[in-house]
Amino acid sequence: MYEHDVIVVGAGGAGLRAAIAAHEEGADVALVSKLHPVRSHTGAAEGGINAALRDGDDWTDHAYDTMKGSDYLGDAPAIETLCETSPEEVIQLEHWGMPFSREDDGRVSQRPFGGLSFPRTTYAGAETGHHLLHTMYEQVVKRGIKVYDEFYVMDLAVTDEADPENRECHGCVAYDIKNGEIVGFRANNGVVLATGGDGQAFDHTTNAVANTGDGPAMAYRAGVPVEDMEFVQFHPTTLPSTGVLISEGVRGEGGILYNAEGERFMFEYGYANNAGELASRDVVSRAELTEVNEGRGVEDEYVYLDMRHLGEERVLDRLENILHLAEDFEGVDGLVEPMPVKPGQHYHMGGIEVNEHGETCVSGLYAAGECACVSVHGSNRLGGNALPELIVFGAQAGYHAAGRDLGEALVETGPSAAIEHEDDLGAPVEPGALGPTDDDVAADGGERAADGGQLATPAETVERTVEQQRQRVERLKGRDGRNHAEIRDKLQKAMTRWVNVFREEEGLKKALEIIRECREEYQHVAVSDPSDTYNTDVIHTIETRNLIDVAETITLGALARDEFRGAHWRAEHQERKDDEWLKHTMVQWSDGSPELYYTDVILEGAEKAYEPKVRSY
Ligand code: FUM
Repeated sequence: MYEHDVIVVGAGGAGLRAAIAAHEEGADVALVSKLHPVRSHTGAAEGGINAALRDGDDWTDHAYDTMKGSDYLGDAPAIETLCETSPEEVIQLEHWGMPFSREDDGRVSQRPFGGLSFPRTTYAGAETGHHLLHTMYEQVVKRGIKVYDEFYVMDLAVTDEADPENRECHGCVAYDIKNGEIVGFRANNGVVLATGGDGQAFDHTTNAVANTGDGPAMAYRAGVPVEDMEFVQFHPTTLPSTGVLISEGVRGEGGILYNAEGERFMFEYGYANNAGELASRDVVSRAELTEVNEGRGVEDEYVYLDMRHLGEERVLDRLENILHLAEDFEGVDGLVEPMPVKPGQHYHMGGIEVNEHGETCVSGLYAAGECACVSVHGSNRLGGNALPELIVFGAQAGYHAAGRDLGEALVETGPSAAIEHEDDLGAPVEPGALGPTDDDVAADGGERAADGGQLATPAETVERTVEQQRQRVERLKGRDGRNHAEIRDKLQKAMTRWVNVFREEEGLKKALEIIRECREEYQHVAVSDPSDTYNTDVIHTIETRNLIDVAETITLGALARDEFRGAHWRAEHQERKDDEWLKHTMVQWSDGSPELYYTDVILEGAEKAYEPKVRSY
């Protein structure tokens, strides 16, 4: 068993920043990741980092834009922390040597991004995430932080108290991808989940194959609620054949969207008369699909994004990466022809419920980055707000995990924060009917009980989890059964068909039905590759189970929320219902089935109270 003060699971932007912060607090910290750090999906982030750095800009304007972008479902205190702290984190990155794009006078460049009232997106060409990742990895290496790469974390080592708020996390268990061993990691102070997104729940996504919702699924099974899972972002400009991202930076630099008739539809059809192409992402994605649905799409599928008029010099200076992506993945030369684009799953606003310290309701378990929901994005994230979230709240989580006694939680968290939900939730499905995902893992912590009812020590808790996971892999490898790929494919297609930009009640119910079928089929999943060396069959099988859990929570939340807010569009409910729905959706795994409850949205910040307004661009 390995032992460290702080174990950070995932080595993308949030994980690296958490590790650096924990190390600065004097902790012995380790990063455990299924990928080498610089292969993490943060490296695919193109556009930039929002930070109010310039004269004429102010972090309070950034906070206002973010709250409006969230469609008033973000929590004001967390949004204010994000926007106030982002500039110092960006300056820190610059001091660490991040090669930002610059103006002739040497200042870091900033460009307009969707939904922003000021051009405040700092960037490094169109490969900002790549440089962010390398800059922080360099700091990790410099500090001698231990990195266990190619270790796939399969489960958390959590005590078995009936009430999740009394549970403690003492570490995690990983599959050593190089040799197939199951190993325990004991954390003396805390475990930080920084596992990134879960885009693989959909079949058209900008996300890497590694983005399988491992963190949210593990936390959920440990009893931590997942928050606002119904809010999924569909980015308006992805390449139709692969889902590869074409950065919002193209529109930030002046790129234009056209339909098949050559019309600049954002203005022509009044989708966003002021901001046009730079409206918020939810608005632009709906506009594109409306064009397609009304017969003005190209090949009934996509629209065009044109950057030819920007000129070769500017494109090469600021967007060179886009030229390569369009050429390599779609065979299009962006300097001589418009690029085909359509909406694709890009980001999950929802995630593991945490407060601003990254704390979950399970003691010793923290989360940060896309896998977490500190509630800065609400129902729609603004482009350029993901990277500041990683660094601001990654640092918070690492810092607090390093010293558990660093002050009181700022925000009440966990099931005890539930509020009454007055309307009938309509019991979209009988939750109990969904059942556990498979017989290999205790979904409710039941298998974690110590023999004879004795309280397990932290080391025993880790060892017991190691043993469970060892048996789980043995069972998966020792039987014949279904291949994970068929189940994953079915799940992804259902999510893309029914839980996409436009959502209808019947479709959401259909999706839940298919998710239930996937659960049943997963009971008979098997790993056919017997090898112990780089057995991706084992990893993908376990990931598929995580995707099923994540997909279910997304769909349950979406079916229950009968309003239209941000990225959550409902055919039958075409208005935002502030009286009923200014609340966060929580889904908690309880007694073998998912349970929904709600908590208040906090619109009162230290700086100001935010009054919900009509949201237009
Ligand atoms: O379009 C982009 O470059 C993506 C940025 C983001 O998701 O923040």
